[in-house]
Amino acid sequence: MISGAARLAGVLGWPVAHSRSPKLHNFWLARHTIDGAYVPLPVAPENFATAVLGLRAAGFRGANVTIPHKEAAFAVCARVDDTARRAGAVNTLTFAAEGITGSNTDGAGFLANLRAHGVNPVAGPALLLGAGGAARAIAAELLALGVRVRIANRTPERAASLAAALPGIEILDWARRNAALADYALLVNTTSAGMHGAPELDLDLARAPASLTVADIVYVPLATPLLAAAAARGLRTVGGLGMLLHQAVPGFSLWFGVTPQIDQEVIALMAADIPAT
Ligand SMILES: NC(=O)c1ccc[n+]([C@@H]2O[C@H](COP(=O)([O-])OP(=O)(O)OC[C@H]3O[C@@H](n4cnc5c(N)ncnc54)[C@H](OP(=O)(O)O)[C@@H]3O)[C@@H](O)[C@H]2O)c1
Repeated sequence: MISGAARLAGVLGWPVAHSRSPKLHNFWLARHTIDGAYVPLPVAPENFATAVLGLRAAGFRGANVTIPHKEAAFAVCARVDDTARRAGAVNTLTFAAEGITGSNTDGAGFLANLRAHGVNPVAGPALLLGAGGAARAIAAELLALGVRVRIANRTPERAASLAAALPGIEILDWARRNAALADYALLVNTTSAGMHGAPELDLDLARAPASLTVADIVYVPLATPLLAAAAARGLRTVGGLGMLLHQAVPGFSLWFGVTPQIDQEVIALMAADIPAT
């Protein structure tokens, strides 16, 4: 039950029905008996700025932002933090008296998930496959830690524009991705390949060193074909669900005033309706 004084937040996306964020945030709200609600907010791109201003006027504390609005969210903010500036995109909005503040928690969520799996992100060089929004957020966080980061993307122009936006990033030819694996401590799939309904990632792990950690940010299915292939070779693997959970923590604590925990209960709840393979 919520009262007339309930704290409100939600997730803006188009479409948004697939989003798992309402299930997660409302679980945490119930666990902490917080008078609040977190709702899906389907908003078409042409209505994004109007919707954000309307939510703020209606007393919402803030909102998460998902595809395709992360760049538009950057543009509506009066202030953005360093993570959002480096990522060039915002996934967490907070509505304050002084204006709208934006942050990007995707990269920090990725790092927190790596650490939760016992992986040290600064153990050695990282190879990121993909050059979309998630790649940029993750690359920015790894660079900030001093990690040597290379990206390889199917479409070279997109890799070049990511590298131009993030000084320090190096580019690897997509055609060299298999042969180059020997040089890395961490491989991250940030492409949407391997997602249910999408083609599998075209990658051969034969040259992967035994010390390579393979992370996939795709979390539907939980064990992507890439993770299954890596596990079959005895490599350490990190799935994408934990990133989704960890990226949600800062928003929840800003809007609802409690820092939620990611434990086995919440992981099991969120994994329950995601296909395993
Ligand atoms: N776990 C989490 O919390 C989390 C958070 C954010 C995103 N994600 C997931 O991460 C994925 C990427 O998200 P995004 O926002 O970065 O998407 P995006 O901006 O649309 O970028 C997609 C990337 O995937 C590449 N790609 C797509 N299909 C490919 C294929 N068959 N082979 C090789 N490369 C392919 C694209 O390459 P081209 O440039 O060549 O097209 C591009 O680099 C999505 O599946 C998303 O659900 C997960």
